Amino acid sequence: MNTYVSASILGADLADLKNEIARIELAGADMIHFDVMDGLFVENISFGLPVLECVKKYAKVPMDVHLMISEPIRYVERFAAAGADIITFHAEAGSNIEETIDKIHLAGKKAGISIKPATPAGEILNFLDKVDMVLVMTVEPGFGGQGFIEGMLEKISELRFYARTKGFKFDIQVDGGINEKTASLVREAGANNLVSGSYLFGASDAVAAVASLKG
Ligand code: DX5
Ligand code: ZN
Repeated sequence: MNTYVSASILGADLADLKNEIARIELAGADMIHFDVMDGLFVENISFGLPVLECVKKYAKVPMDVHLMISEPIRYVERFAAAGADIITFHAEAGSNIEETIDKIHLAGKKAGISIKPATPAGEILNFLDKVDMVLVMTVEPGFGGQGFIEGMLEKISELRFYARTKGFKFDIQVDGGINEKTASLVREAGANNLVSGSYLFGASDAVAAVASLKG
């Protein structure tokens, strides 16, 4: 199974985003992870539509948008129009899950569903045949630079087991505390799409850092 690396620009120098994106693409990142926080679903506020529009003009790889916002269905069309290629929303965020997935697909984009550390995989089993990606949060959403929660490995294995036994094709993405050490644990458990912010953008050798995540 190929492993893909999604570079979270929350860990980049935000005042130099154009160069940071070029640098991380050149290092081999497969997509750009774009964290949207509304100060409501999560405590923090990050960036949104106008920044995505700007970034989209320069990024050569797909934009992987992670919506940490309440009632995400309200914003599907606008993020699709602003340049998202994948739109991932939270199962806990208060929108009808099936309708949100359909709306993302109707906008011509890939749909991802995400669960926080306290949400069991069982909560989303009914939707696994409809999504392109499942994002297992390996930290509490809201901030970069937190420590990986080891207890999430079992959740990843459980989801990989479902994908295998049912023949579902969704990718399993992990987000939070991913570095060269935790990357091998999540790959082993069945994740094939690794988000990384502080480790990737903070590395002195970005090429080696991307390679270490892919294994
Ligand atoms: C956390 C965000 C992550 C964050 C990851 O809420 O969803 O994408 O940028 O940062 P690191 O890799 O530093 O844990
Ligand atoms: Zn994220």
